[in-house]
Parts: sequence; structure tokens; C-alpha cells
Amino acid sequence: MAARVEEPPEDDLEVHLVPMRRRHLRSVLRIEAQVYPRPWSLSLFVSELALRSSRSYVVARVGGSVLGYAGLMLAGDDAHVTTIAVDPAWHRHKIGTRLLAHLAHEAMARNAKHLTLEVRVSNEPAQAMYRRFGFKPAGIRKNYYVETNEDALVMWAEDINTPEYRDRLARIEHDIPGTTVVVDDIRPTS
Ligand SMILES: CC(C)(COP(=O)(O)OP(=O)(O)OC[C@H]1O[C@@H](n2cnc3c(N)ncnc32)[C@H](O)[C@@H]1OP(=O)(O)O)[C@@H](O)C(=O)NCCC(=O)NCCS
Repeated sequence: MAARVEEPPEDDLEVHLVPMRRRHLRSVLRIEAQVYPRPWSLSLFVSELALRSSRSYVVARVGGSVLGYAGLMLAGDDAHVTTIAVDPAWHRHKIGTRLLAHLAHEAMARNAKHLTLEVRVSNEPAQAMYRRFGFKPAGIRKNYYVETNEDALVMWAEDINTPEYRDRLARIEHDIPGTTVVVDDIRPTS
């Protein structure tokens, strides 16, 4: 009798990380609208994707579906996480962790020394993830989120180009169940 093919356990995912392209933006905008009170527009994503030398955007796909995305702006020694989001139906499956780890590697590869980001002061889930990556609070930007009058917490992970930080990243990645495949999409078209 043929062995029964088991469904993989939910967390035993194979997640593909792919450079973000225009063809992903419909799915990206669908997630964006669900997770942010003031979602980025299509044209904002398109203009970010055009800035190839100073930006890096990636999507996370499972079985061909885009379930999350993240972006980085590179400015000298600093790499700024511009956005990171996961489809709400797929929260808590380490997709955000995979995306952030990927951005950290990308920042190192592009010779950045520090990572920074802003996060809503009320966004405890995201802050917990950032703390795990070594981000520490560095200040408050008052009323940064105008639509809700909410303050932003500015966080930094400093000295990412050190063996200590690489060890931290390796430990985080070691603990992620399943598989992460980084796909170097060479198709330059949309
Ligand atoms: C923040 C976000 C990207 C995390 O994505 P995710 O794939 O669910 O995160 P992960 O499964 O990798 O979780 C990583 C860690 O973050 C923390 N975390 C994530 N969601 C959490 C929650 N709801 N409550 C508490 N901690 C949470 C935990 O420490 C978690 O590790 P653990 O599961 O081992 O405890 C996702 O919640 C999201 O898209 N939120 C809406 C958009 C957003 O707020 N983006 C950040 C803007 S600055």
C-alpha cells in the first residue's frame, strides 16, 4: 500500500523570499490595506521599486501566494526598515522573522552598519519581534502617524557587521521551523 502523503505541519512551511516586482503589488496592496490604517499606494510602491540602488524589497511566498513583504532603504551606514507586513491569516508563523532576517543579511551585504525603524508605540507584537533582533528603543517621534495622532518609537540595532550580531541572526534563523528559500529572481520585467 502506498504511504499516505501527510500534509506538512502548519509551521513546517517552505517559504520563498523573492525580490518584489510589480506583479506582486496586487497581493501586497491587499495585505497593506488589512494591516495599516494608512496603506501605501500603488504608486508609492512603484516609485520605491524604481530606486534599485538604495532600496531592497522582498516578498514571502508560500505555494505561489504572497503572504508578506518587507523593505529596506539604504543610506550610508544606516539601513532603514521602511515596511514589514504579513497577511493577518498567516501571523505567528515566523514569516515576519524570515523577512526581517533577510533584510538584516541584505543590509550587511550592502555594507550597512546599523538597522533602524519606526514603530507605533502601541504595536507591541512588532516591537517584540524587533527586540529579538537586537533593536533597542532610541527615542519617540511625536505624532508621527498623523492619521491616528500616534507617536512612533524609533528603534536601532547597532553594529550589525559584527560576529556577535551574526551569531544572534544565526540563532534566530536556526529556531525557525520549516525551510526558507531565497530566490534570486533574475527576470527584470514586471
Ligand atoms: C509584525 C508582523 C510583521 C510580525 O509578523 P509574523 O509573521 O506574525 O511574526 P513572527 O511569527 O515571525 O513572530 C516573531 C515574534 O514577534 C512577536 N510577535 C508576533 N506577533 C505577536 C503577537 N500577536 N503578540 C505578541 N508577540 C508577537 C513574538 O515575539 C514572535 O515570536 P514567537 O512567535 O516565537 O513568540 C505582523 O504582526 C504584521 O504584519 N503586523 C501588521 C503590520 C505591522 O505592524 N508591521 C510593523 C510596522 S513597524
